[in-house]
Amino acid sequence: FGRCLSKRLSKFAGGGSRSWDWWPCELSLNVLRQNGKESNPLGADVIYANEFAKLDFEQLKKDITEMQTNSQDWWPADFGNYGGFWIRLSWHNAGTYRAVDGRGGAGEGQQRFAPLNSWPDNQNLDKARRLLWPIKQKYGSKISWADLFVLAGHTALNNMGFPPHGFAAGRVDTWQADEGIFWGAETAMFPTEPGSNSVRYNGSTDIYARADTLEAPLADTNMGLIYVDPEGPSGIPDPKASALDIRKTFTRMAMNDEETVALIAGGHAFGKTHGAVAGKYIGPEPNAAPITEQQLGWKNHYKSGYADNTYTSGLEVIWSETPTKWANHYLHSLLTRNFSHTNSPAGGHQWECLGCNASIPDPFKPNVWHRPRMMTSDIALKEDPIYRNISETFYKDFNLFTEKFGLAWYKLLHRDMGPITRYLGPDIPKGPLKLWQDPVPEAKYQMIDANDTTSLKSEILNTQGLNISNLVTTAWGAAASFRISDKRGGANGGRIQLEPQKRWASNNPARLQIVLNGLKSVQSKFNKANSAKQVSLADLVVLGGTAAVEAAAKAAGINLAVRFTPGRNDTTQALTDISTFKYLKPIADGFVNYGVGIGRSTTEEILVDKAGLLTLSTPEMTVLVGGMRALNANYDGSSHGILTSRPGQLTNDFFVNLLNISTTWQPIANTNQEFFQGNDRASGQPLYTATRSDLILGSHPELRAVSEVYGSADASEKFAKDFASAWSKVMELDRYDLKNRLQDE
Ligand code: HEM
Repeated sequence: FGRCLSKRLSKFAGGGSRSWDWWPCELSLNVLRQNGKESNPLGADVIYANEFAKLDFEQLKKDITEMQTNSQDWWPADFGNYGGFWIRLSWHNAGTYRAVDGRGGAGEGQQRFAPLNSWPDNQNLDKARRLLWPIKQKYGSKISWADLFVLAGHTALNNMGFPPHGFAAGRVDTWQADEGIFWGAETAMFPTEPGSNSVRYNGSTDIYARADTLEAPLADTNMGLIYVDPEGPSGIPDPKASALDIRKTFTRMAMNDEETVALIAGGHAFGKTHGAVAGKYIGPEPNAAPITEQQLGWKNHYKSGYADNTYTSGLEVIWSETPTKWANHYLHSLLTRNFSHTNSPAGGHQWECLGCNASIPDPFKPNVWHRPRMMTSDIALKEDPIYRNISETFYKDFNLFTEKFGLAWYKLLHRDMGPITRYLGPDIPKGPLKLWQDPVPEAKYQMIDANDTTSLKSEILNTQGLNISNLVTTAWGAAASFRISDKRGGANGGRIQLEPQKRWASNNPARLQIVLNGLKSVQSKFNKANSAKQVSLADLVVLGGTAAVEAAAKAAGINLAVRFTPGRNDTTQALTDISTFKYLKPIADGFVNYGVGIGRSTTEEILVDKAGLLTLSTPEMTVLVGGMRALNANYDGSSHGILTSRPGQLTNDFFVNLLNISTTWQPIANTNQEFFQGNDRASGQPLYTATRSDLILGSHPELRAVSEVYGSADASEKFAKDFASAWSKVMELDRYDLKNRLQDE
């Protein structure tokens, strides 16, 4: 670290003891101020899709291809080919994705930042990234790092004989570490350090029983790993137990058994592992390395420190007879040979076919051959009966294996890209979308125009059973299912009328059905009266919310035009992947006062997390919560936080009354401090009830500062306008077809 002892001891640049040191439970709002324009050197006007359109994509792939076999003296390529290395780069970028919260993944180029740049499992990938710098430099903003990281491995795969099967660019770089990702509660990186590994397993150390206790949303068995420990659970070389870990972690990434085998067997058809020397020669990771290392880490002090002296995982395995050519040698080796436990030169647990001929080439010495080897996590594929079955099928049918690996690889790399309108480039596969891409059929009809929206709005407001409160909660339930992490959910598709969303408690299924029935009657009347022009239920759900907000503003004496952009279409149940869509179900949604904190997390933390996934700023979150209360929009119709005598009018009463000194608040007994009673300070008369999501707006110093703006005498109109603008933003979060949604980071 050179002169740095600790951030806390420095007197400059934000050093010293900070708020968190004194009040470790203070609610952090950092996820609401990520990726601001202050951090973006390109400037907010530079739209990646426009830059990418200027790129010579074919030339870029040629440059990657040329670099792949252009071995550099400072980090020589195994077998004269960086292909395997780059596939690992792509996989480790994409492989942090987890389906539960949609976070991680290749979408933002996060491997440039800590902790990922310095994770033990990403060891030496700093060199893989640096090898690509001349290419990144040549094309500048026309190709993002995020795209380049995955394109490098993808192109390498094709160059090594794997049939081309589609690639889309479109990943927009961010410029800082994602503050929203929970990587685990450990303070130690390695499982051998006391207490570190069992934290995510709720204290369990039983490697056969612990998989099911892996803390959600985590998808790796250790802090600092992409998935599982290659040597076996907690370093114990037990292939059967390793299979349990593999199944758990790959399932968290929404990969089934077949996709899991395809990916591991496909990936390990290439390249090698590195454990030629002892780990004691290795210097600190990039984030801890001296300033002179310039973001390179893990300096190896043994002899040359690279090539045949390389240390990465500490294992020394080459799986295939042709590590730079697509073939079925990996599965042949795994299934037809007997492997015995041995140790690598660095001392790691690995497996070797002791009775085999030395058939595997050396990466640097011609005419030197090694016996076939495997890692514990590879042997798992033949020790687990289900994985073994799949492995045998793939071994017998190489074409099938090739097809399945291609499909799983495509899914791995594109899983978190969101709507297909975000996909860029000439190599996007043709044909129907896969289920994991949440298909929404293209609308084959004319969209409604401004006159139609005006008449439809009044029709909706005059329909029996529909009112301001239930129209607002329905539109919210549909649109706020969006999450920026993997860009899934949102109002498009009209999935709020489908399983599983229509049954989520947060959507109040009984009330939702009333609203959907009302909207469907409006829809069928309109569609019957028009032929070329039609309206989707997805559009009507949002339009209903828009009409309600405008009507509520009018009732408060404010003339408000809320932006509405038609263009959504309805999808079908068959095109909805229930098995992963279920992850979008909110744990708690403080905007509609649904749910409470779980485990170690408070209700207000989940509120802020959701606001982060909706890309809201602190003021936007605040104005939305206060506005939703004014609109009487609690999911269950309760009166918690409805701090107004005129619910259903878009007034700033919530803020005025929250900040009123004449109300005192106490927790309601037996509610675990989740619900509160507000009484008149002088008389003690009960006035209101509220939740943590309500009271936090007056209790947290920064949120209170914002609430004061909206609770001021001059703020009625500003409040309504800000609410409408934040509302429309949420309604359009998934509208990547709109100009203003081309880029969201
Ligand atoms: C290399 C573990 C899945 C592709 C490695 C290495 C380890 C490892 C320890 C050696 C790193 C080094 O020492 O250089 C695992 C585990 C997996 C897994 C535990 C899951 C259970 C995958 C998948 C892919 C993949 C899904 C791609 C689809 C590769 C490639 C290499 C590699 C190409 C060779 C890198 C090189 O040649 O430098 N893997 N891996 N792995 N892995 Fe995996």
